[in-house]
Amino acid sequence: MSTNFNLKHLLGIRELSADQITHLLDTADSFRDISKREIKKVPALRGRTVINLFFEPSTRTRTSFEIAAKRLSADAVNISVSTSSVSKGETLLDTARNLEAMAPDCIVIRHSSAGAPQHLARVCKAAIVNAGDGSHEHPTQALLDALTIREHKGRLEGLKVAIIGDILHSRVARSNIYLLSKLGASISVAGPGTLVPPEFAGLIEQGVLLERRIEDAIVDADVVMVLRIQRERQTDAFFPSMREYAVQYGLHLSHLKLAASDAIVMHPGPMNRGIEVASEIADGGRSLILEQVTNGVAVRMAVLYLLAGTGQDGNGASSGESISDVEESRAAGGVRGRTRKAKRGTRN
Ligand code: CP
Repeated sequence: MSTNFNLKHLLGIRELSADQITHLLDTADSFRDISKREIKKVPALRGRTVINLFFEPSTRTRTSFEIAAKRLSADAVNISVSTSSVSKGETLLDTARNLEAMAPDCIVIRHSSAGAPQHLARVCKAAIVNAGDGSHEHPTQALLDALTIREHKGRLEGLKVAIIGDILHSRVARSNIYLLSKLGASISVAGPGTLVPPEFAGLIEQGVLLERRIEDAIVDADVVMVLRIQRERQTDAFFPSMREYAVQYGLHLSHLKLAASDAIVMHPGPMNRGIEVASEIADGGRSLILEQVTNGVAVRMAVLYLLAGTGQDGNGASSGESISDVEESRAAGGVRGRTRKAKRGTRN
């Protein structure tokens, strides 16, 4: 495992190095087995508290962060914004300060405003994890996508990834573009002209190939990633009708003939069946949509473990230790001293 991980918060993929991303993925890999055991729990974050603060709806991200925290033996608390004092007019900052007064180790936040997690990171002592901020970034989604691709393709370097759909509003597209390019994949995007802004071409140094026709983006692709039409973020009529979108930009079986013969299909969910992706594809043999969800738990375990387990007082695992190292060390009562020493050695 790489020993280059040194991060207080996870706010986006853009600011991570390729080494840090690889270390997160390797750590997630080592956590995958825990979810297959009969007793799906290890003591790595015993005594730690994780707060899920979600200002937007979520099924996958919120549930998997909660499951991840519980599988690591942390105490997980979910704040429902509709029943919290936010509904009485409390500001985000005051909400965060009040939560901080209860000494959580990690706050996982989803918010409709880009930059909300960065705002909290400036004022909170707890590790802040971005679970999706507006149209900006969704780092754990890109990590679980990368873990899924790596599992099936054995690598990311040299792959062609086609990202199809509502690029403009997609934090998933943005985080994936940063991550995939850092790990050596090439990226083509396609969608209606109104939803594929020219700025995306310059998002990364190597450049993103913008295609108007989805067929052109999909040719020879190893991975076809379909994005959800984000009706809740669309303030304008970006295309005439959903029916027309489905015909022009929805992924159909005929498109897959253009991709590599072993191409895989992904979607971050929630999906609009029959609009951006045909049901035969979503439920077909090339679809990894549910595997993505499964890998979301492992990725979020890795993120919580690396941030809440090392960031506060060195009482967790050092960046070079695997989960089994931690368990053995804890059983021998030796984690604290060994971890502090290891941490000093890995700072850069
Ligand atoms: N992919 C994703 O973020 O799904 P949720 O909105 O259900 O969390």
